[in-house]
Amino acid sequence: MPNTTAPVREVNVDLGDRSYDVRVGDGTRLQLGSMLPAGTRRVALVTEADQPWLDSTLAALDVAVSVHTIDGGEAHKNLAAIEALTSSFARAGINRADCVVGLGGGLVTDVAGFAAASYHRGLPVVHVATTLLAQVDAAIGGKTGVNLPEGKNLVGAFWQPSAVICDTETLDTLSPREWRCGMGEVAKYHWLGGGRLDDLSLVDRVARCVEIKAEVVASDEREGGRRAILNYGHTLAHAIETVSDHALAHGEAVAVGLIFAAELAQRLGRIDAAAVAEHRRVIASYELVDRLDPSLGDDDLLAAMGRDKKALDGLTFVLDGPDGVELVTDVPVGLIVEALHATR
Ligand code: GLY
Repeated sequence: MPNTTAPVREVNVDLGDRSYDVRVGDGTRLQLGSMLPAGTRRVALVTEADQPWLDSTLAALDVAVSVHTIDGGEAHKNLAAIEALTSSFARAGINRADCVVGLGGGLVTDVAGFAAASYHRGLPVVHVATTLLAQVDAAIGGKTGVNLPEGKNLVGAFWQPSAVICDTETLDTLSPREWRCGMGEVAKYHWLGGGRLDDLSLVDRVARCVEIKAEVVASDEREGGRRAILNYGHTLAHAIETVSDHALAHGEAVAVGLIFAAELAQRLGRIDAAAVAEHRRVIASYELVDRLDPSLGDDDLLAAMGRDKKALDGLTFVLDGPDGVELVTDVPVGLIVEALHATR
């Protein structure tokens, strides 16, 4: 049962006539009906099999709903999934008077969002995020898409949702690994203006992360520049995921990437030892992996970081510094290797 005395927080993502609200709190999935666009005739609800929060979400809706199930796992996040999903929409007669709802984690919100962006050239979508990672990152900001064999998220669209629900009650069923994955993303917000997020209640912590992301997205919706700061810790994280063949999941790799980024920033004279220690304290407080696996070699990691799609000018990193977290280009390879060693 949702804790009805717990606070509900609402955050606005300010994008002019495409602005939307993000509602954070226990049991907020039960308010989905009130967050659908006015006049919604029917809902095409996209989710994974065995979604534990499906029945209660459906029970709270008083419009017609068709349920469309997609396969879980990164290997199924591909164009075939979009074809199967949009064919399923067509068989159910979904059209532009209807609304797509993505109920689940980041994979569901990415796939449902891209299907919504492309089916009938664009339907509204509302996300009900049921993992910490989706609540603080994937469901907010309008990045949607799928993988190609050549790389992750290479086909997609910016397609802002009409509303997002972050039901913190749904986090009760997360596995320890899913929890760590979300915490890796939460950790990065400590250096994006979040301050001591670990002192906040869960609802306030999620809402604060959403506020920070909303502000960054509103300032640079299509990642012309500043939005890249949301990838703090991600350059090494993506390399770890590739080189380790996903032995570490994304958020776990981000935690290691944050420590590496701090070590690198210190070597560039951008932050002091106390700031590095604060990175280590936060990662430890969330019980995240804080060391790079020594079996992941420098050469493989450097090669993978060079292929990172955020690397526009030689090796580019998102690093902390006197003016906060920002993009830093042309980082010397010798310092990168030193920082890798300090992270092992
Ligand atoms: N996850 C990074 C972004 O939304 O830009």
